[in-house]
Amino acid sequence: RIQAIDALEILDSRGNPTLRVNVHLDNGITGTSSVPSGASTGENEAVELRDGDAARYGGKGVLKALANVNDTIAPALAGCDPRQQAQIDQAMIDLDGTENKARLGANAILGVSQAVARAAAQSCGLPLYAYLGGVGAVHLPVPMMNVLNGGKHADSGMDFQEFMIFPIGAPSFAEALRYGAETFHALKTILAAKGYATGVGDEGGFAPQVKSNDEACELIVEAIVAAGYRPGEDIAIALDPAASSFYEEGQYRLSRSGQGDKNAEEMTEIFKAWVNKYPIVSIEDGHAENDWEGFKGMTAALGDKIQIVGDDLLVTNTKFIARAIGEHACNAVLIKLNQIGTVTETIAAIQLCRNAGWGIVISHRSGETEDSFMADFAVAMGGGQIKTGSACRSERIAKYNRLLEIERELGAAARFGR
Ligand code: PGA
Ligand code: ZN
Repeated sequence: RIQAIDALEILDSRGNPTLRVNVHLDNGITGTSSVPSGASTGENEAVELRDGDAARYGGKGVLKALANVNDTIAPALAGCDPRQQAQIDQAMIDLDGTENKARLGANAILGVSQAVARAAAQSCGLPLYAYLGGVGAVHLPVPMMNVLNGGKHADSGMDFQEFMIFPIGAPSFAEALRYGAETFHALKTILAAKGYATGVGDEGGFAPQVKSNDEACELIVEAIVAAGYRPGEDIAIALDPAASSFYEEGQYRLSRSGQGDKNAEEMTEIFKAWVNKYPIVSIEDGHAENDWEGFKGMTAALGDKIQIVGDDLLVTNTKFIARAIGEHACNAVLIKLNQIGTVTETIAAIQLCRNAGWGIVISHRSGETEDSFMADFAVAMGGGQIKTGSACRSERIAKYNRLLEIERELGAAARFGR
């Protein structure tokens, strides 16, 4: 039974405050989890409650969310059985009482939701992935590794936010990670030889002042080859332009690369040409979050060839996912626990997408912590794909290292692939 819950204000990987929550049970077990934070957030995401007190952390403190955990959620959940995840999550949703978790904060609610799952898993004597996913949780996800950072994640030369390598031809998770890390290092050598900076952005990818978005793709293909892999067969490319972040007044403003303003159809044409030219197999948020027509056009043009992933468009919310399934706006989903705010609602979002035959990508946020909850969660949900940064920065590597552990623990039972 839950005896006590407390929260701590900690820092995320960008040095901004976030919450860590401890759920204490009467059997002496404590489940702990921390909450990540996005930069290119979708406008329909659940609310991340921040203090707005300019005297602390530039207004980004989370003491209000912390107090909501300690003073409102903790007494309401005292005595609950931590294995009743769905009832506990529903109790917090009811306690909040708003459509978007604006009163208690999705950061407060998710911290508790995740820590409850951890406490329950420990009580049952199971690793988190087995507790949440059952005996069938043996499938490791293919990593999408973000090796070039642009957009809101780095002051680089790229309008597009994420250029990822995707080791689809690897035989296991451990080998996929090796393919990715070797390519990451090859890319560093290539960038340095061309006189580009090799400092990294928020998700651990390089952030060079390249001259165009095209050049980014060319550099990645060059790195894949230099590392000894076959582009498209061993390692493909996945993109997240995060187009909401450069969409203004109905135009896609490709200002960093000097390509000028584009409309939705012209963006689709750019991606079509790229898919023919580069080994791209997945494009996330190629259009802005409110540009449903753009997404539909993109899916009609490219959906039979590649994965069209909705992130800001869907915000891990069954309401938007159901609409996108009905309107054929995409054919895959990006899943972020903190976009919706509870473990139970996230699982419901995944189930809806799975029933529609969609691809599923479990994702980190650009502001992360050392918590590897999402790695276990990805295996529990049946693998597929995981997006959790490049091959450096420990808040990213914590997730990859946890997946290595899980793969070894599963031994011969482990499965890998999209
Ligand atoms: P965010 O970026 O965490 O800054 O929102 C990740 C993404 O857009 O996929
Ligand atoms: Zn995204």
